[in-house]
Amino acid sequence: MQQKILISRAIFPEVIAKLAQHFDVTSNQDDVLWTPSQLIEQLACKQGIFTTGGERIDAALLAACPDLRICANMAVGYNNFDLDAMTAAGVLGTNAPDVLTETTADLGFSLLMATARRLAESEHYLRAGLWTRWRYDMFIGADIHGATLGILGMGRIGQGIARRGAHGFGMKVIYHNRTRLDAATEADCKACYVSKEELLRTADHLVLVLPYSASSHHAIGAAELARMKPSATLVNIARGGIVDDAALALALRNRTIAAAGLDVFEGEPKVHPDLLTVPNIVLTPHIGSASLPTRLAMAHLAADNLIGYLVNKKALTPLNPAPAALA
Ligand code: DGY
Repeated sequence: MQQKILISRAIFPEVIAKLAQHFDVTSNQDDVLWTPSQLIEQLACKQGIFTTGGERIDAALLAACPDLRICANMAVGYNNFDLDAMTAAGVLGTNAPDVLTETTADLGFSLLMATARRLAESEHYLRAGLWTRWRYDMFIGADIHGATLGILGMGRIGQGIARRGAHGFGMKVIYHNRTRLDAATEADCKACYVSKEELLRTADHLVLVLPYSASSHHAIGAAELARMKPSATLVNIARGGIVDDAALALALRNRTIAAAGLDVFEGEPKVHPDLLTVPNIVLTPHIGSASLPTRLAMAHLAADNLIGYLVNKKALTPLNPAPAALA
């Protein structure tokens, strides 16, 4: 009998067509946002699910879906997966690394530049009809070239941002990470390892690229913001919840730091109301990987993981040990 899979959100039709060559596919091109119990209902008797990063795969879902063998995330982040519960239930998780690295680093660097040079704030001013003359001190921002770029979380995307800053803009790059990079990678990124304390204290522009977990929850809160320079900018392209958004809004209002650029939010797509009323901020709706070739590559990788595992017994980018029955 043909294996069944669920695609839980709207996705490129060509990727659905590819999956339909191998599986009995249920898709959701109306992009209905299912509740956890609706998701469980939809997943009944299915062996695989194509997720897009927001669907929670936890012990309750796994217990209710005993036929499930694989969850393929179309995202590099996988904080929507309870991997321990998946391993215990014999369900493989896969993500979509590498294909989005450079596109997401591009967005990180764009946000850094827009934040430092106050692009959103000055555009709102112009659109509001407030621009009546040139002034020497109008929308004075911070330089990017020659400044100190701090990166918290130095995985593939962090390294991409470091290379852009060091090689393209002559920035001094410092970073903090759970594990220090090898010397060759540090040299390639022209990056120096520092403590988190030094990173906070000395960066002119701090970019967050660390994965979300219980230990990175509110890694940047009121205490950390207070350690940063009043002229510093902060960019978060990692995950909501890494920054305490209420504390950040207060720090921006009080000018504890100069400005922030955020692509991700605690509890998104809801945005903390205080962030919407501070002027010194650039806000984008989680578009880090949003270029057409990259989103297509992510979707194809998730599809290839489903086909690879359920048809050929080998996933391309597994996150947890493959259950013995299929491996
Ligand atoms: C990812 O892949 O984790 C990006 O944030 C897009 O969801």
